[in-house]
Amino acid sequence: DWTMGAYREQAIEAIRAQVGDAKVICGLSGGVDSSVAAVLIHEAIGDQLTCVFVDHGLLRQGEAEEVVTMFRDHYNMQLIHADEQDLFLGALEGVSDPEVKRKTIGKLFIDVFQKHAADVGGAKFLAQGTLYPDVIESVSFSGGPSVTIKSHHNVGGLPEKMGLKLVEPLRELFKDEVRALGRELGLPASFIGRHPFPGPGLAIRCPGEITREKLDILRRADAVYIDQIRRHGLYDEIWQAFVAILPVRTVGVMGDGRTYDFACALRAVTSVDGMTADYYPFSHEFLGETATRIINEVPGINRVTYDITSKPPGTIEWE
Ligand code: XMP
Repeated sequence: DWTMGAYREQAIEAIRAQVGDAKVICGLSGGVDSSVAAVLIHEAIGDQLTCVFVDHGLLRQGEAEEVVTMFRDHYNMQLIHADEQDLFLGALEGVSDPEVKRKTIGKLFIDVFQKHAADVGGAKFLAQGTLYPDVIESVSFSGGPSVTIKSHHNVGGLPEKMGLKLVEPLRELFKDEVRALGRELGLPASFIGRHPFPGPGLAIRCPGEITREKLDILRRADAVYIDQIRRHGLYDEIWQAFVAILPVRTVGVMGDGRTYDFACALRAVTSVDGMTADYYPFSHEFLGETATRIINEVPGINRVTYDITSKPPGTIEWE
């Protein structure tokens, strides 16, 4: 009989067998995938694991504090909090091509890991929360010819020169199975229920050039949107919801004045595994109330649109 309990035991044995008494570093993004991977590996090998949480300046509001508190205080894991905002945002300056963004971020992640792997002193393995859809989507599309749709930074391609081998205990799992495994491992329900968040973070929700100003506006709008969704009790019905800030300013009126601020797009989809998705059918009332709140509460945004594209033909993220 196949159960998550059995999978857990089997995965723990496999990790121990692969790793032996070597040290492992694990990139912790704050997402469900890397969190479940970290807790699983921690259970298998304890303090042989050091987690590295990279703050690339592309996280959501309050995210860094939440992750550090949870893994240091609650799980007692060895955790390095690497504040590399200047490094990442500097390298992304003037970059607007989505694939260049991903590759830039992916390369820097590797650099940062390499640096911290050296600090840990002789780590031999790098752990990642790669899921099955990440693996197949970076290789082929719907069984067709081998085409890369989006280069997921957390798949494959760790340079040989790093001299680190990969530990990917979630490679065979879909998202819902990762959540089940997380529950099995005792992660808090609120954490397991969190919407997925991509490794490149807000970079791929900010089409065009990324600036600190746009990121600040995006974070505030996103926080209001998620608050709205929670208040209306819709969070758990939705696979993923976020705001994208658009690379366009539009004219508006507010009070007696003319405004010339950014437009944003709200995204919310239902999905089973992220491979296909439908847009979420919010009520007009919800959408109107949310638009009003964002425009009133977030300086820098004066227009709100709702993205009604399903996947395919769209992707969930904007880039
Ligand atoms: P798309 O936009 O390809 O997204 O329909 C499918 C799911 O994958 C997430 N995603 C990523 N996750 N690194 C990640 O870790 C990435 O580069 C990446 N790109 C997309 C996306 O948020 C959605 O859940």
